[in-house]
Amino acid sequence: MKQPAIVLLFLAIVLSLLVALFDRHPTSQSAPATAAISAEDAQLTQLVQSSCSGCHSLATLAQNRQSRARWQQTVERMIQLGAPVSPDQEPALVDYLSSHFGPQ
Ligand code: HEC
Repeated sequence: MKQPAIVLLFLAIVLSLLVALFDRHPTSQSAPATAAISAEDAQLTQLVQSSCSGCHSLATLAQNRQSRARWQQTVERMIQLGAPVSPDQEPALVDYLSSHFGPQ
């Protein structure tokens, strides 16, 4: 009579471990995604600080809230004026500017 009780106990432990694993799944998946987004945001904040503050203050950006299309034009004009932005950084930079300094 001892054996079935042990088997049942074993099954109960396995089941509760499985439940714990499935419960944890959503949070363990969303946490790194959030971290990745804010890490990219932090990188772009640094890029803006280093590339866009050489000739005028960063307040110039906040004072010129505009659409994505206009940020695209502004960034291209700033690059022509000498802003240190590489072509592969440009799309992410334009996304960043239009989400932080989009039209109100
Ligand atoms: C090489 C110098 C230089 C750098 C670096 C620079 N700018 Fe400018 N920026 C200017 C000058 C000069 C003006 C004013 C004359 C003009 O608008 O052509 C200006 C004006 C602006 C304006 C005012 C509105 C407008 O369209 O004229 C915004 C917004 C702006 N810059 C954004 C940026 C951003 C974003 C960056 C970084 C990608 C940047 N600037 C980097 C030289 C620079």
